[in-house]
Amino acid sequence: MHPLTHLGNMPIADFLRDYWQQKPVCIRNAFTDWQSIIAADELAGLSLEETVESRLIENDGVISNWRLQHGPMTDEVFAKQRPYPWTLLVQGVDNFVPEAFDFISGFRFIPGWRLDDLMVSYATKGAGVGAHYDRYDVFLIQGEGQRRWQTGQLCNSDSSLTDHKELCLLQDFQLDQTFDLEPGDLLYLPPLVAHKGVALTDNCMTYSVGFRAPSHSDVIGGIADYLGQELSADKRLKNSLQAQPAGEISAADVANLREIIAQQLTDENLVQWFGCMTTEPKNPDLDWSEEAMDEAELASIIKDAYGVLRVAEGVRLAYTWQGDGGLTLFAQGDAIACPPEATDLAMALANDLIIDVENLGIVVKNEASQALLLVLHNQGWLYFDDE
Ligand code: SIN
Ligand code: CO
Repeated sequence: MHPLTHLGNMPIADFLRDYWQQKPVCIRNAFTDWQSIIAADELAGLSLEETVESRLIENDGVISNWRLQHGPMTDEVFAKQRPYPWTLLVQGVDNFVPEAFDFISGFRFIPGWRLDDLMVSYATKGAGVGAHYDRYDVFLIQGEGQRRWQTGQLCNSDSSLTDHKELCLLQDFQLDQTFDLEPGDLLYLPPLVAHKGVALTDNCMTYSVGFRAPSHSDVIGGIADYLGQELSADKRLKNSLQAQPAGEISAADVANLREIIAQQLTDENLVQWFGCMTTEPKNPDLDWSEEAMDEAELASIIKDAYGVLRVAEGVRLAYTWQGDGGLTLFAQGDAIACPPEATDLAMALANDLIIDVENLGIVVKNEASQALLLVLHNQGWLYFDDE
């Protein structure tokens, strides 16, 4: 699956240079031959599932009355006649719908580890989730119907919020630009830009491609937890042997602390933590299990040269090179050491997410790559599709 080379007429290089993490941009007809990815009733169906994160927001008059309900939804939720406009928002649609997974994979012109998920919303005319800001970049793509987006000021943690108990809505919204989006149009928003969307039609569906933006505090906390778990409880802090008053914590004591931390901050430790953290499944409750396959079955599929091998929906892969010519493949939060003979396969999977079976023989040509493919397949993280 190849990352997009253009958004509408705009080459990705121009987008990255002029807009990414800088300023909003609206791109009309961002996709050639736009087709909607999921129908409204399928989206409602997904929100009934236990493993799917969803919310329903009802715009009941004044903001303080707006109602938020968390999923899983029930049939009764959708059977109910609602006097007020409402929005259903479903997270992680890419974990369940192959076309949604393919769609967000197009956005891997940004490093794959940064991609978070595809959220899809369905709104009735007049509905919206209110003025707010997000701390991550987002591409908002109109799927069906029309929505009016308004962008506003740059916000931060000090921006005042309304006193709604559950929804983080901005007290002030200073209008900057207005965009009416039609199916296939895209609005990119960098982090912290105030925005609000209102459905101009019924059956208004918006796709939000969201990115991860771990805070520095998440990074430091995550590394500390990871390193802490790796270290033996037998390793203990020594005190400085320099003479010092009994009540003092000396500069030498602080230097000892710094030394312990510095010893652990190797690139190897950092990438190990980062690879595991960024490939952890968004949805750990999903069952990825697949019928186990053996070498003989694999050989016969490769011989038939038919269909594709796909990375399963929502499965996260990334790799990093090791000094010996091999690499570490991170898959769903695990680190798998791959010898040099298996690197072609690991790279093809993590970079392309799909391999034509007719080309599979080129990357699965020895025991190490065969073994890797079987391990990943038998976890349910790869599957063969006869498309
Ligand atoms: C929506 O799809 O209605 C909300 C998306 C957002 O503003 O984050
Ligand atoms: Co938002």
